[in-house]
Amino acid sequence: MKVHKPFVLYEDGDHKFVWLGLDESEHEKGILTNQYLVVDGDKGALLDAGGYFVFERVYENVKEFIKPENVVALLFSHQDPDVIGSLNLWLDVAPNATIYASVLWERFLPHLGFEAGGRITDIPDEGMEIKINKDSLNAIPAHFMHSPGNFHYYDPVSKIYFSGDLGAAVFPEGKWYLMVEDFQEHAKYMEPFHRRYLASRKAIDLWLKRVKNLDIKMIVPQHGSIFDGENVKKFIEWVNSLDKVGLDLME
Ligand SMILES: [Fe+2]
Ligand SMILES: [Fe+2]
Repeated sequence: MKVHKPFVLYEDGDHKFVWLGLDESEHEKGILTNQYLVVDGDKGALLDAGGYFVFERVYENVKEFIKPENVVALLFSHQDPDVIGSLNLWLDVAPNATIYASVLWERFLPHLGFEAGGRITDIPDEGMEIKINKDSLNAIPAHFMHSPGNFHYYDPVSKIYFSGDLGAAVFPEGKWYLMVEDFQEHAKYMEPFHRRYLASRKAIDLWLKRVKNLDIKMIVPQHGSIFDGENVKKFIEWVNSLDKVGLDLME
């Protein structure tokens, strides 16, 4: 089982987009997850901080790029345990961080056991711009893909699109790679998840409209591997090819 160091996906001046490493043995505890850090000067935003048991790996790797107290935004795609399980720990080490989450989940999150007072900013259904330092990220609505209150995050500087659970791949034992090379082969590891978890074809159509006019250089999901170059277009076409998902398939 390999331990992978963080990898800088984009760097220009003091703006970086970083994949925060992985220990392949994490799959023994739960589904493998990716975390990403957007560095903007000496400040940063953490995308889907992850579950409780990945905290130490993510924390140590964030420290290679910025001071934890300079994490100013904890951005969440949705409410699942693999997304928010480390939230309490992050609130302790990043006392200046604001939590950004869907207005649907804001009142549920304090059940993790933290004092919400002023620390959560609700993202309205239509999305919002989130200022980090001098740059901003855009919360892009992706409702029912799979959560009812679901956001992706687009970085207009790097043109990297964080897609949360969309694009998730679940690998068989012993298989893992960071960048998608053979798209057709990779699609096999994505299909079962998307057929069952995405809510319906209508959710896909709404999402396709949202991303149609975005200039996307790379799509980085919370599970599985990263799409860049030609694979960005191939991925969006593949999502469009899913004629029936979720409720469409339920009897
Ligand atoms: Fe999820
Ligand atoms: Fe997930």
